[in-house]
Amino acid sequence: MKKRYVAGFAVLALAFSLMAGAQEAQKPEIKHVPIRHTAAYSGEQMFNNYCAVCHGAALKGDGPAASALKTLPSDLTTLAQRNDGKYPSAKVATAIKGDMSMPAHGNREMPVWGPLFSGISGGHAEEVQQRIANLNRYIESKQLK
Ligand code: HEC
Repeated sequence: MKKRYVAGFAVLALAFSLMAGAQEAQKPEIKHVPIRHTAAYSGEQMFNNYCAVCHGAALKGDGPAASALKTLPSDLTTLAQRNDGKYPSAKVATAIKGDMSMPAHGNREMPVWGPLFSGISGGHAEEVQQRIANLNRYIESKQLK
């Protein structure tokens, strides 16, 4: 597959990773790093690279960076349960893109992924859609019954 990097995307793009030294019993700090390119076809891989640091590899909201945030990351396995058993895919898509102001978001700590995904997709709107759809499908597959 052809890699598409946009000149200068690292300047716009932010992702999160933990500072080394989190093993010491101190509060982890969040460091902003340039977003890494991940193939758009794998929701699981994108989740592990972009989301697990906060939401946890098992989607329970307990990623390694969670304790450094003011707002706890949501448990993404109970989205359907919390919505009368129906997985709210439109709401999840909007939450990822970042154009929904969730009421709890006075200080929005969840990154706004729309522009970041657009950067790593070379500005191709279809690829951004594919990323969001595949993330959505992956999260839906992890819903508790
Ligand atoms: C820096 C930490 C962080 C990262 C990285 C992150 N999130 Fe979040 N996310 C949060 C927090 C905190 C919330 C709780 C809502 C808020 O912002 O107040 C949240 C909320 C959400 C919600 C809304 C859930 C609900 O119950 O309504 C969804 C969906 C979501 N995140 C998906 C993702 C996906 C998918 C990714 C990766 C592309 C991701 N998040 C990456 C911190 C993060």
